[in-house]
Amino acid sequence: MARNPRVIVIGPEPVNRDEVQKMLALSGFSVLGEAGYGIEAVSLAKKSEPDVVVIAIEEPLIRALQTVEALADLLPQSPIIGHSSIKGSGSMRRAMVAGVKDYLVSPVKEEELINSIHAVLAQEERRRARLAGETDEPVAAGTVVTVFGAKGGIGKTTIATNLATALVQKTKQSVVVVDLDTRFGDVAILMDIPVERSIADLAMPEEDITREIVEECTYTHNTGVTILPAPIRPTDWRNVHAGHIERVVTLLMQTHDYVILDTPGTFNDIVARALEMATMVVLICTVDMASLKDTLLAIDMLRSWNFPQDKIKLVINSTNEASNVQPQEIRRMLGRDVFWNVPYDRNISAATQLGMPVVVAKPQSKASESLTEMAYALSGVRRQQQTTKPREVQKSGFLSRILGSVPEDKTEVSVE
Ligand SMILES: Nc1ncnc2c1ncn2[C@@H]1O[C@H](COP(=O)(O)OP(=O)(O)OP(=O)(O)O)[C@@H](O)[C@H]1O
Ligand SMILES: [Mg+2]
Repeated sequence: MARNPRVIVIGPEPVNRDEVQKMLALSGFSVLGEAGYGIEAVSLAKKSEPDVVVIAIEEPLIRALQTVEALADLLPQSPIIGHSSIKGSGSMRRAMVAGVKDYLVSPVKEEELINSIHAVLAQEERRRARLAGETDEPVAAGTVVTVFGAKGGIGKTTIATNLATALVQKTKQSVVVVDLDTRFGDVAILMDIPVERSIADLAMPEEDITREIVEECTYTHNTGVTILPAPIRPTDWRNVHAGHIERVVTLLMQTHDYVILDTPGTFNDIVARALEMATMVVLICTVDMASLKDTLLAIDMLRSWNFPQDKIKLVINSTNEASNVQPQEIRRMLGRDVFWNVPYDRNISAATQLGMPVVVAKPQSKASESLTEMAYALSGVRRQQQTTKPREVQKSGFLSRILGSVPEDKTEVSVE
């Protein structure tokens, strides 16, 4: 860590900036300057290249968040600390998404700010050491993939479960699927597992939820995928709040490479939190006008949250044979590139009847090929030459339960 960390102070109010500046100078930091939002902040950051940025997140919030984003882009190695007098956790989450590393509630206490600066600088130092290969310390947080769509019945659960299975079996990463369908969670049905405990058992004071308690509610499927099921009765969701989801997902991120969040066809605070926590959103859309129109609204909603657009992976899923909309038309209507196309394949519904993901039940089907390639593309893991032909497994859900694990194919992979 720098011996005498160099800091810049950003905020809309000169008086407040002065106060923070004095506090930092008295504590031995080298304050390189202060500036308002926007271009003023960016010019100062460019000129001074500080070790850390302290920014007041105040109204106009949008300007504050745009400034955070611009600074995070300009100085990816200089952590940003936000402090705000705006009440409620919404602005905090948005600031975190925009790029702040820590968030303090104003009025900021001197000790709190100093500790925060030291903590974010130490974290940045560890990150650099890790990148330089100087430490074996594993990356602490897994990737959160939120599978979202503006409608029901468009293949969200199908894609979430198959993606999870392909990631485990082909890229050898640890994956947990969390069923956040607050109406009728289908993950357990699609993977044919009994639901003895569920996410509803975690509706307790958030600080009491531990990694061990979460693990007790999960189920390890014989494909290797971990599942945190939804409760069987939709009414059991009544005590589960967005705060529980945040805590549970944060704990699961510490133990899994991927946390895949399956969401319902409706929108609620739990879905909003699942989107806010996402490292990437797999946005599913089917090939019909109603779905395209709803997807456009969903993209607009995410844009209005300042959600980074590059985190959205648009996936077109053909749930029926007849499609009257051409791919170019989809691109034109939605104004963005399509990340992946999943073809119509009746093997998907056949696999659902067996209670198995299609990538296991029919690994050579066109849907499996597509979903597996999508897992490779999302994970950044490169497929290598296949040494043996994958075997097709056709066991009934009941049989799979009593016969145990499903044979793995021998595809070898390497991490880029
Ligand atoms: N590419 C595809 N080809 C053929 N059938 C598909 C395809 N994708 C999904 N399906 C079928 O579409 C139906 C709906 O899929 P799924 O349950 O995954 O949707 P969902 O978006 O999760 O729905 P809900 O919002 O109700 O939870 C299922 O019967 C599934 O088998
Ligand atoms: Mg579903």
